[in-house]
Amino acid sequence: MHEIRKDLGSGAAFYRALAAELGALLAGEQDVVANAANCASLLYHSLSDVNWVGFYFLRDGELVVGPFQGKPACIRIALGKGVCGTAAATRETQLVPDVHAFPGHIACDSASRSEIVVPLIRRGELLGVLDIDSPRKDRFSETDRAGIEVLAQEFLARLD
Ligand code: SME
Repeated sequence: MHEIRKDLGSGAAFYRALAAELGALLAGEQDVVANAANCASLLYHSLSDVNWVGFYFLRDGELVVGPFQGKPACIRIALGKGVCGTAAATRETQLVPDVHAFPGHIACDSASRSEIVVPLIRRGELLGVLDIDSPRKDRFSETDRAGIEVLAQEFLARLD
């Protein structure tokens, strides 16, 4: 059974510890669904003030929801649509301090107020995105962005 630590705060040290924890959790397994499921659970239970953590994977040119924690979500998102589709189309992390101010934001859970979406690029190919929502406006800082990008890399590295 995996013990989730709750005592590390939210700074760079927290993310270093979380990346190590994720690496240990995924070690020896390459199945993308299994690893995405455990990654979503670890992040959902380790990050403060989050109401949705999960994956969308690229399937036949659109994003399709994958393993997640939180309320049921939109199943398919076109590239370029919403925060997830924008992250996928631009291949750049989207940090949205206030989702109400993001044109085209797709509201899956009306509680969501801020969001971060990191594209998952594997050997130059877009695999999908990692999406994290918070009920708190301005929840994600640049420290969170850097930390979550490292977590996404850790997830990708285990698939090889
Ligand atoms: N808000 C996202 C949709 C996915 S849900 O938040 C789970 C978006 O605008 O792409």
